[in-house]
Amino acid sequence: MKENKNFTGYSISTKLYDWLLKNISKNQTILEIGSGTGTIELANNFNVISIDHNPEWINLTDKCNYILAKLKNNWYDITILKNELPKYNYNVIIVDAPNGSKPRYGFIDNLHLFDLSNVNYIIVDDTNRETEKKIVRYLNNNTEFKTLMTQKTNKEFTILKKQ
Ligand SMILES: C[S@@+](CC[C@H](N)C(=O)[O-])C[C@H]1O[C@@H](n2cnc3c(N)ncnc32)[C@H](O)[C@@H]1O
Repeated sequence: MKENKNFTGYSISTKLYDWLLKNISKNQTILEIGSGTGTIELANNFNVISIDHNPEWINLTDKCNYILAKLKNNWYDITILKNELPKYNYNVIIVDAPNGSKPRYGFIDNLHLFDLSNVNYIIVDDTNRETEKKIVRYLNNNTEFKTLMTQKTNKEFTILKKQ
């Protein structure tokens, strides 16, 4: 198979991409937290909304709706997300940013910003890390999303399904 340069050490893994292709229909919308070259591949197959703080990683494809939200208090500026997120309807959320030494707990701390009524899956990337495992535990214990599977590779991810 020809190597696809959009899948890198930073992007979602090809295993996650393959899972999405098999399990999510093309008319569904993915809300991705953390843009990159993987977003280009997602947007070739699904409707995609992607949030990022860094202009360098947005607008890599015109098939995606990007939300540029600067970082504030270790997560995204929630004033921007409060304005932007209600414009969209989405079925899958992928938690894959922000990067850096700070955990991605902003997602669970601000879960109320997301309309989960049409969301069937929440996917947490990098769950080989303790901080991401904690996000998965929180979702299992406090929401109707429960772990469906964890893909154990060096780029581990966990898929939670709405019960
Ligand atoms: C894990 S990456 C997100 C990757 C994205 N979900 C994808 O599949 O391409 C987390 C953050 O790193 C930054 N980033 C994305 N691609 C990058 C790259 N190739 N090199 C350095 N930083 C990158 C972006 O600001 C992004 O929010």
